[in-house]
Amino acid sequence: MELSPARQQAQQLLLGTDNGARPRHVAIILDGNGRWATSRGLSRSEGHRAGGETLTRLLDFFIELRVPSVSLYVFSTENWRRPKTEVKAIWRLMNEFFESRLQLCMDLKIRVMASGDLSRLPTENRRRVERVLEMTRRHKRLTVNFCVNYGSQAEILHAASSVLQLRLQALEQGQHKKAFAPISARELERHLYTYPLPPVDLLVRPGGEWRISNFLLWQSAYAEIYVTDTLWPDFTEQHLVQALLWYQSRKRRFGGL
Ligand code: FPP
Repeated sequence: MELSPARQQAQQLLLGTDNGARPRHVAIILDGNGRWATSRGLSRSEGHRAGGETLTRLLDFFIELRVPSVSLYVFSTENWRRPKTEVKAIWRLMNEFFESRLQLCMDLKIRVMASGDLSRLPTENRRRVERVLEMTRRHKRLTVNFCVNYGSQAEILHAASSVLQLRLQALEQGQHKKAFAPISARELERHLYTYPLPPVDLLVRPGGEWRISNFLLWQSAYAEIYVTDTLWPDFTEQHLVQALLWYQSRKRRFGGL
C-alpha cells in the first residue's frame, strides 16, 4: 500500500529517534472551529462538527506515532458564556461523537479519560461519557483524555480541597503528624483530574493564539509550546508530524543548563 507523505515522514520520525525524544503526553487546544466555519459561510456548530472529524482522523495516527497520551481541550469552564445555541450544539455533537466513535475506540484499544467537573454536564452527556470511560478503561494503546467543563485553576482548587479534606480527617483521627505535614507536589498531583497521566511534554495550539487559556497549567509546567495558524478543522497528519519534528528539535532543560 502506498503511504501518504505524512505517514512516510512519520515513519522516518520514529526510526530516527529514541523514545526520549517522543512526547509522552501531547495536549491540544482545539481552537479555530468557529473561524473555519464562518470563513465558509457555515454555522459555528458546523465548525465544531468538522473539528470532531479532524480528531477522528488523527486517532490512529497518534498510535502510529507511538504517542501514549493525548489531552484535548473540548469545553472549558468559561465556554458556558457562549450563546446558549452554541453550547447546546457542542453538547449534542459530543454525544454524537461518543456514540459513533465508541466502536473505533474499542477497535483501536483506546482508553478514554475525562478531566473536568462532569457533575455540571447535561445528564445524557454525563451518562454517555461515564459509559465510554467504563467500557474502555482497560485499554492501553493510547489514552485520550477529553477535558470537558475543564479549567485548570478550578482543577487545582479542587485538588487542594481534596488534600485538605484528608488532612482534616487525619486530624479528627488524632494523626497530628499526617495532618500537619507539608503538602508535596506529588501528593497534590494525585488529586488532579488528569492523574495518573504524565506531565505534558508538548502543548499544541492551532488557531494562532499565543495563550494557554487555563488549560493544564500545572501539568504543562515544562511543556514545549507549539502554536500554528492552521485552524483545528484543517489540522492534518502532516501538521501533527511537523509539531513532533519541532518538538524533537527542542533542547529541554527543565530549569537546568
Ligand atoms: C474552540 O474553537 C472549540 C470549542 C470550544 C469546542 C470544541 C468542540 C468540538 C470539537 C466538538 C466535538 C466533540 C468532541 C468530543 C471532539 P472556537 O469555537 O473557539 O473557534 P474560534 O476561535 O475560531 O471561534
